[in-house]
Amino acid sequence: MTAKELREKYLAFFKGKGHTIISGKSLIPENDPTVLFTTAGMHPLVPYILGEPHPGGKRLTNFQKCIRTGDIDEVGDPSHCTFFEMLGNWSLGDYFKKEAIAYSYEFLTSKDWLGFSPDQLHVTVFAGDDEVPADEESAEIWQSHGIPRERIYFLPREDNWWGPAGKTGPCGPDTEMFIDIGIDPCSADCRPGCHCGKYFEVWNDVFMQYYKNEDGTFTSMERKTVDTGMGVERTIGMLQGKSSVYETELFKPVIEMIEELSSKKYGSDRETDKSMRIIADHIRSATFILGDEKGVKPSNLGQGYILRRLIRRAIRHMRKLNAETEALPKLAARVVEMYAYVYPILEEKKETIVSELDAEEKKFSDTLKKGEKEFEKMLPNLLKNPRKIIAGRVVFKLYDTYGFPMEMTEEMAEENGMTIDREGFNKEFEKHQELSKAGSDKVFKGGLADNTYEVKKLHTATHLLHKALRMVLGEHVEQKGSNITSDRLRFDFSHTAPMTPEEIKKVEEIVNEQIKRKLKITFAVMPLEEARKLGAMALFSDKYEENVKVYTVGDFSREVCGGPHVDSTEELGFFKITKEQSSSAGVRRIRAVLKPA
Ligand code: ALA
Repeated sequence: MTAKELREKYLAFFKGKGHTIISGKSLIPENDPTVLFTTAGMHPLVPYILGEPHPGGKRLTNFQKCIRTGDIDEVGDPSHCTFFEMLGNWSLGDYFKKEAIAYSYEFLTSKDWLGFSPDQLHVTVFAGDDEVPADEESAEIWQSHGIPRERIYFLPREDNWWGPAGKTGPCGPDTEMFIDIGIDPCSADCRPGCHCGKYFEVWNDVFMQYYKNEDGTFTSMERKTVDTGMGVERTIGMLQGKSSVYETELFKPVIEMIEELSSKKYGSDRETDKSMRIIADHIRSATFILGDEKGVKPSNLGQGYILRRLIRRAIRHMRKLNAETEALPKLAARVVEMYAYVYPILEEKKETIVSELDAEEKKFSDTLKKGEKEFEKMLPNLLKNPRKIIAGRVVFKLYDTYGFPMEMTEEMAEENGMTIDREGFNKEFEKHQELSKAGSDKVFKGGLADNTYEVKKLHTATHLLHKALRMVLGEHVEQKGSNITSDRLRFDFSHTAPMTPEEIKKVEEIVNEQIKRKLKITFAVMPLEEARKLGAMALFSDKYEENVKVYTVGDFSREVCGGPHVDSTEELGFFKITKEQSSSAGVRRIRAVLKPA
C-alpha cells in the first residue's frame, strides 16, 4: 500500500463511520503563540476541542502536515522524522473510548482496510498516578477485541498522557498502538516505546476527559473529546514490510539522489545511513516549511531559525558524506515532484523553495569552513579538559564570532568524545540578549493553546483591526499571520509602505468606536461560497473546506474563523497599537494591546 492509498483509505473508512472530511491546515499555526509549528492534527482543532462548535459537525477526519523538532535528535533512527503527515479522526463530544478503540482496531486489522495481523498489535494505556487513576477502561476494551493482557502495557504519564501544553485545559490519557515487526527484542526490557526498531508506534488515541485547573488539580469533564493521530510514514513502512520509514516511497527517491551525489551506498554502514536519513528528513521538512501556504524564510528567529537549523544540519551531513556541495535545491525539487499531487502549493512555491535553499547554502558554506577550521585549531586544547566538557563561553565564541551554530559544535564535540556546556552557552547567549524564542524547548511541545479570556478579547480585537486596516489602507490588505498571547496581539498583513502616524491613529479610532458601539459577536455555519457572497474575509487555507464558520461583529466585520470570541465588543476596553513595523517584503506587522476603558 502506498501513502496515497493509505490517505484515501483512512478518509474513506472514517467517512463511512459518519465523519466529515476536513482539510489539513498550514504548518504555521494561526493565533497560537504556544508552538512554532503545527505539531499534530489536533492543533488547528484546539478551539473545537475546547468547545466551539465545528462547521463539519461532531465527527471529523483529515490528514495534516506536521513539524516536530522536539524529536530532532532521534532523527536517523528507523522511525522519527521532523516532518510527518498525521491522519486523524475526532469526536467532539460524540463517541468516546469504546467506539474510538473499535474503529482503530477495525481499521488496523480488517482485511478490507489495513489487514495487520492482530498478533502483531501491542498497545499501551495510562498506568495511573497520584492524581488520575489507571485507564482500566481502555485496557478492557482492547481485551474485548482479543488483545491479550500481556500485550497491553501500562505506562506512566510521560508516555501515555496528552496535553495541556499551557497551564490549564483539556487533557487525558491516551492509548498507543504499536506494530511488532518480528525481530528479536534488544534486551529483557524491550517493549513498546523502546527505540531499537522492533516496535513501531503507528497510532495514538487520546481521550480528553479531564480539565487541568490552575491549581494543578484535574476535574472530569462532561463533554469528552477523542483526538487520534496515525503516522503516515510509519504505517506504510509497516504495511510494506520495511524496517524503517526511509525505505518507503516517501524517502527512497531522495535517498537515491543522495547516493548519486555522494557516490556512497545506503545500507553500507551505520554512519552513512544515519547521515543520509538526516539529510532526507531535513530537506523534506525544509521544503515543506518554505513551500507552506504561509511560507517562512530562514532567519535567526522563531520558525525561520528552525528552518535555518534544519537546512544547515542537512548541509553539514552532506559535507560529512563528501557529497557534491550546493545540491539541496536539487533534493528539494525531488521532494516537490514526489508530493505535488497531494500538496499542490509546493509546485506553486517551487521557485522560492529552490532559490532560498540556494542562497542559504552559499551563506552557510562560508560560515562552516571558517568555524570548522577554528574548532580544529582549538581541539588539542579542548581535549586536555579532563571532564571532556567544552565551556559555554567557547561554544558561544564560535557562535558569535563565526556564526557557528551551537548544535554543530555539539555534534563535533560528540564526534571527539566530548560534550558541551549547554547551560553555560545559554547563559552567555542571554547575556547578549539574543536568545531567540525558538531556543527554548517549551515552544516545541505540542498541545493546547492558551485559552484565557485575555486571548479571546484580543482575538476579537484582531477582527476589528483587520477590517479597520482595510478601511484606512485599502482592500489590498489581507491577513498574513496572527499570533496572540495573553498580553498582546500581533497581526501581519499585506501592505508595502510603513503606516503614517495619521493612519495608525485613524485605525485606532475606528476600532475604539466599534468597541463603544457594544457590537454583538455571532457566528453561523455555511458553505464557503455563501460566506464569500456575504462578503466574509477568508484565508487561503479555508478554500478546501466544505462548510465554514463565519463570525460577524455587529454590522462591522465578517470573517471566516474558528473562534473563539467574546460576546460583545464592549468587553474589550480600549485598543492601542504599540508598534508598526516591516515583517517581510510587502508585509507589515502590528502589535497592539487592550487596556481597561
Ligand atoms: N494528538 C495526538 C498525537 O499527536 C493524537 O499523538
